[in-house]
Amino acid sequence: MRPQRFRGRSVVVVGGASGIGAAAAHLFAHEGAAVAVIDRLSGTDEPPTFRADITDPAQVESQFALAVDHLRGLDALFVSAGVESTHSSADTDFAEWSHVMAVNATGAFLCSQAAMRHFKESRTGGSIVLTSSTRAEITVPDSVAYTASKGAVSALGRSLAIEGAAHGIRVNCVLPGAILTPMLLREASASDTPAAEQMSRWAAMHPLGRLGTADDVAEAVLFLSSEAAGFITGVSLPVDGGMMAVEPGGPPIAYGGSASG
Ligand SMILES: NC(=O)c1ccc[n+]([C@@H]2O[C@H](COP(=O)([O-])OP(=O)(O)OC[C@H]3O[C@@H](n4cnc5c(N)ncnc54)[C@H](O)[C@@H]3O)[C@@H](O)[C@H]2O)c1
Repeated sequence: MRPQRFRGRSVVVVGGASGIGAAAAHLFAHEGAAVAVIDRLSGTDEPPTFRADITDPAQVESQFALAVDHLRGLDALFVSAGVESTHSSADTDFAEWSHVMAVNATGAFLCSQAAMRHFKESRTGGSIVLTSSTRAEITVPDSVAYTASKGAVSALGRSLAIEGAAHGIRVNCVLPGAILTPMLLREASASDTPAAEQMSRWAAMHPLGRLGTADDVAEAVLFLSSEAAGFITGVSLPVDGGMMAVEPGGPPIAYGGSASG
């Protein structure tokens, strides 16, 4: 039996139809929260999904309002929705750049803006957790649009944290490493390296010697959204098996463990 940290609380998970968002929606519900999902894909009946493309301000506004009405309030927002991009600057055309920025950065902004308005008007305070990435801090050559978009998400989180503090609104980011979700599987199939080998390489980048799971990230999101994190705002929390702690240019480390979670 899990602790019931969110009993009586209402939580909206954006991007909750898949991967990390779906895991978080599930765990929030298991800990007693009333949960609503906003996603461009239809999810399951429970938690209910409000369909919106988060790049469209009108869709975000209307579906956010419906989700909050359905929940009869809002205590926490988790924005997980995002899209990947695996190209260098030369290979990133304008349409790809615009789409990645629109979903990852603008979408996070529009959803946060709706929650900030709600928290301020209702004078309840609240929590927002955004999904950035280790790529916001350390990155690879073929990830230009994605890296830029996640840098924007981390900066957005800090900015909203400062704005929200006087209203009892906490805003934090999680920075996942390589997490075994449909997004990572798509990235593996797009790579020139055979997918299984690529997965092993990604697993080996983490000192803990494995890929992360969607639950690994969801657990961090629940902590940041909970009262136990009541004095934490404006942080970017890596959930990366130690990857960001590795000294650049240091000796190669033979990581142990397995890639299977
Ligand atoms: N998987 C990883 O290795 C990894 C690493 C670092 C960061 N992240 C970040 O974690 C978040 C979740 O990724 P995931 O791995 O669970 O991916 P995923 O593809 O499994 O899930 C992403 C979800 O976002 C939704 N979404 C995408 N575009 C949308 C739009 N325009 N409007 C509404 N919903 C939209 C999708 O429908 C999907 O349900 C993303 O922001 C991603 O960038 C993932």
